[in-house]
Amino acid sequence: MAQELTGKVAVITGGASGIGRATVELFLREGAKVVIADISDDAGAALAESLGAAAVYLRTDVSSREAVQAAVDLAVSHFGGLDIMFNNAGISCGAYPDFIDDKLDDFDRVMQVNVLGPMLGTQIAARHMKDHGGGAIVNCASIAGTLAGHAMMTYRASKAGLIQFSKSAAIDLGRYGIRVNCLVPGHIRTPMSSFQQGASSEQIDRLEQEVSAVYLSNQILKRRGEPDDCAQAALFLSGQRSRHITGMVMPVEGGVTAGDPVNHLADIFAARASVLG
Ligand SMILES: NC(=O)c1ccc[n+]([C@@H]2O[C@H](COP(=O)([O-])OP(=O)(O)OC[C@H]3O[C@@H](n4cnc5c(N)ncnc54)[C@H](O)[C@@H]3O)[C@@H](O)[C@H]2O)c1
Repeated sequence: MAQELTGKVAVITGGASGIGRATVELFLREGAKVVIADISDDAGAALAESLGAAAVYLRTDVSSREAVQAAVDLAVSHFGGLDIMFNNAGISCGAYPDFIDDKLDDFDRVMQVNVLGPMLGTQIAARHMKDHGGGAIVNCASIAGTLAGHAMMTYRASKAGLIQFSKSAAIDLGRYGIRVNCLVPGHIRTPMSSFQQGASSEQIDRLEQEVSAVYLSNQILKRRGEPDDCAQAALFLSGQRSRHITGMVMPVEGGVTAGDPVNHLADIFAARASVLG
């Protein structure tokens, strides 16, 4: 089968783990060359090493303009250009208290990584793409940015802000042949969504099972989302199949935001039957 990204060069931020890593691996299988831009040096360097000459790792803190510029420059100098920018790196809040007790200690860092990072990535990539025939930019938001909920208010606000930025950037950059789309993952099996911090390796599997059961309760599709589910969507948004699509907010979440999967009507009629007999 033909490869979708033959001859294309991508920068993938947060490419050392989870969704980013799965996207690095898929893009390489599809013929792209990839700069893995992350701050997790050991994992990023080991991944690049395992993938051979089509991947290179660069320590890149996405909240730094100089670092993001260096990642784009590396794509151009090492691989000859930049066609795809996947602004995927993101962090969650450090703690999850009810909002009333939230000290908002992590506000600045979460906003820098989750909002400023993709804004820098979009702008710096676009400055190159504008003079080189356009390109595809994909920003990674979250259902926390589309679906209101308890706690994690800074994360929710950051992802909602990123969605609005992405749609606006699509409008602003379309004249240069640059498409900007937003990927909106739901609950995807990665270290972030399993809340693995502080868990031992023996505890991680059990933790994942318990956490999965909670996630599946409000999903229409009763399967755990995997990093590759998002990588496939990122591939679609980055390649020719989506050439007429920009400003889109694409959920990859097993139907969580489609509606409430609980059959309330059945419950109501059961209640009615219990009253009326
Ligand atoms: N996993 C989920 O369920 C889920 C759900 C919704 C949205 N997301 C979003 O998907 C994206 C990827 O998350 P994941 O689940 O794969 O998480 P992950 O923790 O597995 O991977 C995140 C990667 O980003 C890197 N990173 C963190 N801060 C960085 C920085 N300042 N500069 C560069 N790299 C940095 C980390 O080192 C890590 O390699 C994030 O934007 C996240 O908010 C994930």
